[in-house]
Amino acid sequence: MRSYHLEAFKTIEGIQIKEHSIPQPGPFDVLVAIKAVSLGRRDLYILNQTYPLAARPGVIPISDGAGEVIAVGDAVSRFKPGDKVCGNYFAHWRDGSIGPDIMDQLGCSLDGMLTEYALLKEDSLVHIPAHLSWEEAATLPCAALTAWSALTGFRQVSAGDTVLTIGSGGVSVFAIQFAHMMGCRVISLTSKENKAERLRALGADHVINYRLNNEWSKEVLALTEGRGADLVLETGGTDTLEQSVQATGFGKQIILLTSVGTVNPGNPVALNKILSILFVKNITMQPSFVGSRLAFEAMNWAITLHKIKPLIDTVFPFEEARDAYYYLAKGEQLGKVVISVSAKS
Ligand SMILES: NC(=O)c1ccc[n+]([C@@H]2O[C@H](COP(=O)([O-])OP(=O)(O)OC[C@H]3O[C@@H](n4cnc5c(N)ncnc54)[C@H](OP(=O)(O)O)[C@@H]3O)[C@@H](O)[C@H]2O)c1
Repeated sequence: MRSYHLEAFKTIEGIQIKEHSIPQPGPFDVLVAIKAVSLGRRDLYILNQTYPLAARPGVIPISDGAGEVIAVGDAVSRFKPGDKVCGNYFAHWRDGSIGPDIMDQLGCSLDGMLTEYALLKEDSLVHIPAHLSWEEAATLPCAALTAWSALTGFRQVSAGDTVLTIGSGGVSVFAIQFAHMMGCRVISLTSKENKAERLRALGADHVINYRLNNEWSKEVLALTEGRGADLVLETGGTDTLEQSVQATGFGKQIILLTSVGTVNPGNPVALNKILSILFVKNITMQPSFVGSRLAFEAMNWAITLHKIKPLIDTVFPFEEARDAYYYLAKGEQLGKVVISVSAKS
């Protein structure tokens, strides 16, 4: 079998392919033939060593993948050969709140999915929605679950709420689809005019170009009769935080998904510009990390019931995995960048 490994950091050329023998499952292990994986911005951060959790040198990269169960250990009860599965991003997080003892992540401190076969613990796996292709299912573990947890894990949104999404990255696109499904009004920001129509088709009620309009919070307030957003998925981090605080409603919530600027990691944010607004408007800022396995299962039921289809931008073959990284780094995609691992999908 072939796997890619992070042999050197800070360069996409440091992702090297190697040959191995196929591993055999221990009592609680499940052997999965990976069919497709999908890339997220975090996979670039891990490669560039700007991610908060350090990657193990030589680790198999990428958290998100889908595949077919080939063999199971003697003690495995939830899966059987032939089942279609995804692994949870936080392999040890079953339910409840995240804690320091369950921070291990696939494709970072644990081997990930850019491989032909993965050996995973049964507790870390979920069944995938039946209507999805391998490529579509591979997009769920990080981007979709992050959006789902942000919308359901803290201040749960309800019909009539206004949800604000920032940029048209993987997390934001799922947030648009889920928030629309939940009956919310969705206001979406993008820096690219040509994406606006497609964001509307996905469920955005209003699209604002945040490159052309630096003070976009005023437009959010105007669109909401001055009330502001009920929930902001802050995927821009320090790049956009000042404006998102202005755009958030009184007593409402910002789900903070990154501690740095997504596009400009060195971007500072002036605390004196946001603290008084946070305080006066009684806004809660809540960090959030992807999600637990039980949240993943709940999300998959909703995806199944509402026949949600993930948006895929481009699929690269396994042999061109590095090209997928180069493509994602350009930031021009709308939808997920996927790598197909098997020709049998
Ligand atoms: N806390 C968590 O659990 C969690 C989980 C997943 C991701 N995140 C974080 O959420 C953020 C978004 O992640 P993602 O995977 O959704 O990102 P992504 O797919 O790479 O999307 C980033 C978006 O930023 C916008 N952008 C504007 N200028 C850009 C440029 N020069 N280069 C690249 N992108 C540019 C683009 O949208 P437009 O073209 O529409 O402007 C792009 O689609 C990241 O900071 C990531 O670390 C956090």
